[in-house]
Amino acid sequence: MVFEGAKSAGRKFVVANWKMNPQTYGQADRLARSVAAYGDARVILCPPFPWLTDFSHKRFGVAWGAQDVFYENSGAYTGEVSAKMLLSSGVRYVIVGHSERRELGDTDAIVAKKLRAVLETGLSPIVCVGEKQRTKDKELRTEKEFVRKQLQAAFQGAFHNGALPRLSTRQSDYGPRVIIAYEPVWAISSRSGGRSDTPDGAAEMIRFIRDALAKLLEGSLLRLGRRAKFSVLYGGSVDGNNAAGFLGRPEVDGVLVGGASLKSKEFQKIVAAAREY
Ligand code: PGA
Repeated sequence: MVFEGAKSAGRKFVVANWKMNPQTYGQADRLARSVAAYGDARVILCPPFPWLTDFSHKRFGVAWGAQDVFYENSGAYTGEVSAKMLLSSGVRYVIVGHSERRELGDTDAIVAKKLRAVLETGLSPIVCVGEKQRTKDKELRTEKEFVRKQLQAAFQGAFHNGALPRLSTRQSDYGPRVIIAYEPVWAISSRSGGRSDTPDGAAEMIRFIRDALAKLLEGSLLRLGRRAKFSVLYGGSVDGNNAAGFLGRPEVDGVLVGGASLKSKEFQKIVAAAREY
């Protein structure tokens, strides 16, 4: 039986990961305003920290997410930002375990601690998983095993020695939710030059992720599975031309967009495609 909590859920998400862009407040403000007009798709913008509070208070008709978080609640951690600070700044989502952060030193254990901090605070995590390389095996066996291990490390690691977090109703603008983003590292535009996965490949992996999550949630994470809704997105070189191919698949609950989210017109096309489904 597939556990209810891991089934696909409702309307499509479009998450914008601006990474360390753009370079000035003025440019960022213009970009945020241009997105504001798009309306009702589930748009989540993740700008760099310096602008996050200001933008989230202006709201712009979208939801706000951070690109990272620290796992401790408070204390002598120079340069870090806690989940509670994000929550009190109007932020509702946090990207956890992005491959670029993993490359900068976030191990599976750190990702698990960050996931725990995010859930305990009542924020919604966007947990990134994805293999580094794609083999020629059509069944994607190696890739699936890699992703399964990342999911297990993140979720079981997060709750290894403690109680499950309380998921509060304020958890997100769209209800208590855990988002997984399948982002094959080889398809991220800064590496791949814009070569994305195919909609078939993404759909196959997302089906697998949902099954793997269902198994995890049937066991020790049953309570988490009962309380939160799970959505699984695809990310990696999504743009205005290929977005509909991913968003049109019933398995795909939305897209996580990097490079194309910095180009207003391009992003608008992606949001328009999301509205169709
Ligand atoms: P991309 O980035 O859309 O530029 O490939 C996606 C990501 O890294 O989140």
